[in-house]
Amino acid sequence: MKVAIAGSTGFIGRNTVAKFAKEGIEVHALLRNTSEVEQKRKVLENLGAKPFIVDYSTPSSVAHALSEVDVLLHVAGASSQSVHTNFEESNVLLTKNVVTACLLANVKKIVYNSGLGVNQETTQCYFISKYRCEIIIKQSGLEYVIFRPSYIVGVGDEFSEYLLQNILGDKPIPIFGSGEYRIQPVFVDDVTEIYLRCVKGVAGWNKTFDLVGAKIVSFKDYITLLASALHKKPVFSYVSLEEALRDAMRPSSERKTNPYMSVDELDVLISDFVSDATPLERAFGLKLTPLEEIVKRIAYHFSKRS
Ligand SMILES: NC(=O)c1ccc[n+]([C@@H]2O[C@H](COP(=O)([O-])OP(=O)(O)OC[C@H]3O[C@@H](n4cnc5c(N)ncnc54)[C@H](OP(=O)(O)O)[C@@H]3O)[C@@H](O)[C@H]2O)c1
Repeated sequence: MKVAIAGSTGFIGRNTVAKFAKEGIEVHALLRNTSEVEQKRKVLENLGAKPFIVDYSTPSSVAHALSEVDVLLHVAGASSQSVHTNFEESNVLLTKNVVTACLLANVKKIVYNSGLGVNQETTQCYFISKYRCEIIIKQSGLEYVIFRPSYIVGVGDEFSEYLLQNILGDKPIPIFGSGEYRIQPVFVDDVTEIYLRCVKGVAGWNKTFDLVGAKIVSFKDYITLLASALHKKPVFSYVSLEEALRDAMRPSSERKTNPYMSVDELDVLISDFVSDATPLERAFGLKLTPLEEIVKRIAYHFSKRS
C-alpha cells in the first residue's frame, strides 16, 4: 500500500510517517521548499519515507508526488494567521489544490484533519476555513474520511512541552480567564493507529469522526495532571481574557502575560468543544489510552530529556 502525507513535517505528520513506515506502508512525504528543507528531508528519509518537495499553490506540483498513491492523508495547514499566512491561502486554497492534485493523479481517497467543533454555523476564522475545506473535500467526488480532532498530544507536542517546561521550572502558567473551559486531549499514538486503520478502510469511507480522547478535562485540570506526573504542583497566574487577547495581538517580543497563544489559538482553546469518544472507538475497533497514562508517558519522556 502507498500513502502520501501532506504536512509530513508537522507534529502529526511526523508521527504518522514513522508509524506507517514501521508498518511497511510505502510513504510519500510531502514538504515545502522552506529554509529548513534539507534538514526536514533527512528526518523524513531516516523515518523511512520518500520525501517529495512540493509547491502547494500548484496542483501539478503536488500531483507529481502522488504517482500510484492509494490514499492521501492531508494534515497540512496553519492554525494561526499572520501577514505571511492567512487561512484562505494556508487552509482553503491549499486544500483545493491538494484535492485537484488527487484528481489529476488518479488518487481516489483522502483523509483530512479538520477541527473539533467545526460546523456550518461556525463564526470563528479558523473553524470557518476548516468548514470550507470539509465542503471542498465532500464535493470533490473523492472517497473521504474527515476527522475533527480536539488537542492531539504526545511526546514533543508544543502545547504540552510549553506547560511542562514551566511546571518543571516552577514558573507560573498563565490561565486565560477561568481555565474551566474543557478540552479532550487525544494521544498521538492512538491517532496514528486510527489513521492506519482508516487508510486500510476499517471504518469505511465518506464519514466524519470527532477525534477525541477518552476523558474530558478543564484546561486547568490538564495542567494539574501534567504537573502531578512530574510530582509537582502547578503555579497558576490568572490573566483576564481581555488582557490575554490584547497581548496576543502584540508582536511576540512585546507580549507580557500571554507568551504562547495567538488570537486564533486562544479562540480555539476557550471554545469548550467536547464530544463522545464511543463512535470513534467502535468504528476503529480500539480502546483509547486513558488520559492519566498519556500524561505519564509525555512527562516521562520530557523529564528524561531535561
Ligand atoms: N495538533 C492538534 O492538536 C490539532 C488539532 C486539531 C486539528 N489539527 C490540524 O491538523 C493539521 C496538522 O496539525 P499539526 O499539529 O501537525 O500542525 P504543525 O505541526 O503546525 O504542522 C503543519 C504542517 O503543515 C505544513 N504546511 C503546509 N503549508 C502550510 C502553510 N501554508 N502554513 C503552515 N503550515 C503549512 C507544514 O509544513 P512545513 O514543514 O513546510 O512548514 C507542516 O508539515 C493542521 O491542519 C491542524 O489544523 C491539529
